[in-house]
Amino acid sequence: MRYPEEIVEEVRLRNDIVDVIGSSVRLTRKGSSYFGLCPFHNEKSPSFSVSPSKQIFYCFGCGVGGNVISFVMKYENYTFSEAVKFLADRAGIKLPEVEYTKEQKERENKRLRILEANREAATYFYYNLRGRDGQAGLNYLKGRELSEETMKKFGLGFSLMQPDDLVKHLRSKGFSDEEIRESGLATFDEKRGLTDKFWNRVMYPIQDINHRVIAFGGRVMSDAKPKYLNSPETMVFDKSRNLYGLNFARTSRKDHFILCEGYMDVIAMHQAGFTEAVASLGTAFTPGQATILKRYSHDVYLAYDSDGAGRKAALRAIEILRSSGMSGKVINMTPYKDPDEFIKALGTEEFQKRIDEAENSFFFELRMEEENFDLSDPDGRTRFLKVAAEKLVAFEDEIERESYITAVAKKYSVSYESLKNQVVSLAARNGGEYKPIEKPKPTDFSKADREDAGLVSQRLLLTWLCEQPSLYEQIKDHIKLTDFTDPVYQKVAEWLFKDIEEGTVNPGAYVSRFEDEEEQAVCAAVFNTKLSEIEGEETSEKAFGDIVYKVKKNSIDVLGRKPDQSVEEMMAVLNAKKELEELKKVTYRVSQ
Ligand code: CTP
Ligand code: MN
Repeated sequence: MRYPEEIVEEVRLRNDIVDVIGSSVRLTRKGSSYFGLCPFHNEKSPSFSVSPSKQIFYCFGCGVGGNVISFVMKYENYTFSEAVKFLADRAGIKLPEVEYTKEQKERENKRLRILEANREAATYFYYNLRGRDGQAGLNYLKGRELSEETMKKFGLGFSLMQPDDLVKHLRSKGFSDEEIRESGLATFDEKRGLTDKFWNRVMYPIQDINHRVIAFGGRVMSDAKPKYLNSPETMVFDKSRNLYGLNFARTSRKDHFILCEGYMDVIAMHQAGFTEAVASLGTAFTPGQATILKRYSHDVYLAYDSDGAGRKAALRAIEILRSSGMSGKVINMTPYKDPDEFIKALGTEEFQKRIDEAENSFFFELRMEEENFDLSDPDGRTRFLKVAAEKLVAFEDEIERESYITAVAKKYSVSYESLKNQVVSLAARNGGEYKPIEKPKPTDFSKADREDAGLVSQRLLLTWLCEQPSLYEQIKDHIKLTDFTDPVYQKVAEWLFKDIEEGTVNPGAYVSRFEDEEEQAVCAAVFNTKLSEIEGEETSEKAFGDIVYKVKKNSIDVLGRKPDQSVEEMMAVLNAKKELEELKKVTYRVSQ
């Protein structure tokens, strides 16, 4: 669903980008822009810029950029419509009602009711914990050394030892039996009707990234089984697509995540300052969760239990991370079982050391393999190295494979040659010959290409025109839209030229016209090219002339490189070359 463009524009114009970003990022004025620490990557000196005149943000460090709407989308992880809605509310703009079908409306209402029931239950559990009947729960959590602040941050609570007190409470708040049942907070059977799902347990609300309670985990306070009871999947809870603690971890400003096994691990880690900790939800780590983490960071450190089950789970998680194109490392917690115990015993600094020393996931896998062989026996050793060679064959990237062969040879004291020979012959036996695997060509050339000198000139030209629209008159006979070789640049040029002709230059509006997040960032980058780099070196007239010349020349070169040229195209190149000669003679009037 998309709102009409005029509405989106109004919302955008009524929310000043400096105000909006300034309420979550500390900004300092520097010249015509504001700078701050980028909220999307970890940095020590500010490279995140916000331009009040262009209403655009851009990070020179990590390349994110966009307008006020894209900022809210990224920062809050909202969809486009959610971001527009958020900003409309902020500016007191009433959005037009969207046409839903009856079924869609009912579904959406139901979803909202279930979220409300969960929130109500969280509040109820929270007060139980602090009430007369919650003493046991509170003692239990205190016994696990959780501070009041931590319990509050995670909204911990307590479910009473009564069969249906929550059901009654929810009914009193106006929830229907159907809603209560569908929220997963109660179960239904013919004889007893609705009964609470959770009894006499400490309660861990599970929140989505926007801090909405979507489910619960409840822990017994004794050694009884099952230790944890979790909400079933509901309309609002898909356990393979949420992670415990992600609502806090995603803004931790660390460049990695720490993935743990349990709720208590996450809580203990956050309490110790490791706010980048998350856990999967009562199930193994899933590819869906990997995809979600990847939005924020590619690096995941595993802090799984050091027992057999934990290691197995870690091996599986490594595989998932690898096939999602992420990199995993394994934190060694011995002699303790899990991060919770480790931190209690040895403290934060020691844990930080273990993070710094985390093991590369490939070597972790090999080390686990070691246990299946007797390395002191020549036979066992040989068989182990064969397994290692088999794993090495799996690396598709040649450089990566080579460096792993070198590292494995060194670690297990075999010669590089013999290990490599082993890998080569295994690869041959597996059907493929061992040949340098060609790196798959990126399907999207535009990204690499954007750093072309040609594109830099195009960007400089667009930025310059945006800042001095009067220059347009002087170039419009020489530069055509087709001279912009990147599709995003070409669109931007089209809109900018049209705006200049109409006398209103408004680059912040362009960003939202691209639906793709990457294109939005490219669009914002176009206008954040640093003119200062060329200014001062030469006179502005000459610099501007050079840019125009380069843009034209690049466009001719690109055209000239095109295979299977038609006669017309060849003529066009020839003509353009003549024009290029003419361009050299043009002098521009540029104000300083
Ligand atoms: N789990 C579960 N059901 C169980 C046991 C475990 O859903 N019967 C899930 C929970 O999400 C739990 C995670 O598996 O957090 C890891 O289990 P464990 O290490 O036993 O739990 P911890 O969170 O470490 O809890 P505690 O320290 O309180 O034992
Ligand atoms: Mn534990």
